[in-house]
Amino acid sequence: MDKIRINLYELLLCLSNAQDLVSHDLSNHHQQVAYLSFRLAEQLRFPTNQQKSIFLAALVHDIGALSVDEKLEIIDTESLNINNHAFKGAKLLEKFKPLQEETNYIRYHHLPWNNGEGLKYKGNDVPFASHVIHLADRVCVKIDLSKNILSQLPEILSAIIKDKNTLFSPILVDALIELSKKEYIWLDLISNSPVDKLSKDSFEVLVLEIDDIVDLTSVFSQIIDFRSEFTALHSAGVAVTARKIAELVGFSPLECKMMLIAGYLHDLGKLAIDNDVLEKPSKLNDDEFNEIRSHTYYTYQLLDNIKEFKTINTWASFHHERLDGNGYPFHIKGDNLSLGSRIMAVADVFTAITENRPYRNGMTYESTIDVLNNMVKNGGIDGKIVGLLADNFNDINDIRKDAQAKVFEQYNKILETK
Ligand SMILES: [Fe+2]
Ligand SMILES: [Fe+2]
Ligand SMILES: [Fe+2]
Repeated sequence: MDKIRINLYELLLCLSNAQDLVSHDLSNHHQQVAYLSFRLAEQLRFPTNQQKSIFLAALVHDIGALSVDEKLEIIDTESLNINNHAFKGAKLLEKFKPLQEETNYIRYHHLPWNNGEGLKYKGNDVPFASHVIHLADRVCVKIDLSKNILSQLPEILSAIIKDKNTLFSPILVDALIELSKKEYIWLDLISNSPVDKLSKDSFEVLVLEIDDIVDLTSVFSQIIDFRSEFTALHSAGVAVTARKIAELVGFSPLECKMMLIAGYLHDLGKLAIDNDVLEKPSKLNDDEFNEIRSHTYYTYQLLDNIKEFKTINTWASFHHERLDGNGYPFHIKGDNLSLGSRIMAVADVFTAITENRPYRNGMTYESTIDVLNNMVKNGGIDGKIVGLLADNFNDINDIRKDAQAKVFEQYNKILETK
């Protein structure tokens, strides 16, 4: 069995919600833009399939804004670099085949209309859908949640109309004017979860190959890791380490791929944590440690929305739980920690201490095994798994290094994207 029935919409919503955890200024940005883009496409009577594609693309349109600064920059209309995160986002998503069309929409979502010249970029065709997302995005960033949405509409509209033809296609501006007459749309838009207000009948469950899910979640892992050069390769290392240990333990091929996916996602909740805390090389103070302790809680909550990921979620989110109950945040103990969760805990520590970071080199074999054995002695992690790791140390360490070297190459390519 190499296929998983999964709702791609649920997966992307999870990524979108994770992205919006980064800053309060961004709360719901992706959901809002997805909602409004969908309404514009519907108003213009685009074919249902295209409405759906525009919606999915808008749901993750800013995933290329990796650092917090970049994420805040997306709110600033005047920024010169505004195209950069759009191209980076497309680069990240490129390898996920089921979203090829959507990737192209994302690539050009900041291109000005320029009297129709915005339908081309350096000789390539630009989808009209990109312009839909562009307009929706610019409308959403103008909304001030502290004021009444309906009272703000005239001002927002006149700002948009001012840029008709230059920034925005006239067809889209006219569609927006039509939408502005319907109060419910704007009330939906500022609600807690605008996308829940849409009927999702057209978002049928897709049967995806497990390898497609591996590809998409590896994109997730890069969004988590590329925020900081300090941890840019961490999830990739944890994922392949956990998969290798799972293989040695005798997990089935499908379970091994699920372990890989869980590894890619284990630190998803770190998107909610301040970079200054993540990057602090010295000891964390109490406040900072409390912030860190929340990340696996968020990983769990985000993945909990994907029904098919029940097992993957427990393997991913319990990596800081300890056998003696002294881990966090759920304090799950002993036999209640499944073999998969125990493997992830070991893979996480192993990767964290063996990988090089800008401020220190990774540990040698002896020191690594010492640290792990001490944790076994203190009742934190599983001795059998650590034994297996010690017996296969070179093999596993090479697999980790190779995977991280490959991701390092991609990391540099993404940074160069223009
Ligand atoms: Fe953007
Ligand atoms: Fe945006
Ligand atoms: Fe973690």
